[in-house]
Amino acid sequence: MTAINVRVDGAAYADDVEPRTLLVHYLRETLGKVGTVVGCDTSNCGACTVHLDGQAVKSCTVFAVQADGCSVTTIEGLGSGGSLHPVQRAFTEMHGLQCGFCTPGMIMASIDLLAENPDPSDDEVREGIEGNLCRCTGYQNIVRAVRHAAAEMRGTQAEVDTAAADHVVRADEKAAQA
Ligand code: FES
Ligand code: FES
Repeated sequence: MTAINVRVDGAAYADDVEPRTLLVHYLRETLGKVGTVVGCDTSNCGACTVHLDGQAVKSCTVFAVQADGCSVTTIEGLGSGGSLHPVQRAFTEMHGLQCGFCTPGMIMASIDLLAENPDPSDDEVREGIEGNLCRCTGYQNIVRAVRHAAAEMRGTQAEVDTAAADHVVRADEKAAQA
């Protein structure tokens, strides 16, 4: 066993782990962070994506011992004060999910993408999340969600097609209705 010290979602943990323990298994089985899911275990699907010192990584490709001294953020560490992170909210509002299995990893990858490129085009979103697979949505609403969140995070009105989310009342429409 090897001793590790790691911060996960803002809390400090000190644990003994097998050197072969994957980070995703440490998160789920030792810490109970089951919001991070395993889709393939072979580094293909991206469902297990978390942030390691701010960078998106597939946690099934990282040993827990490699996270020693690092800060990990999972889908459970997003948002604050009971509010969703803008990317989480956008996935909900823009129907960026169906079964939801890919969603934690998709959101973590998207946040990393937006940190590097705050105003991505559709193609840049598709390229940025190419390591994350979704079997349900066809990706169209995921792209819309990421661009919607990007606009909100930049403090501008989203210029994306909201046809798939007619229930979303835009801020300007809301003001007009008041
Ligand atoms: Fe890690 Fe699929 S479970 S990439
Ligand atoms: Fe089902 Fe993406 S919503 S796999």
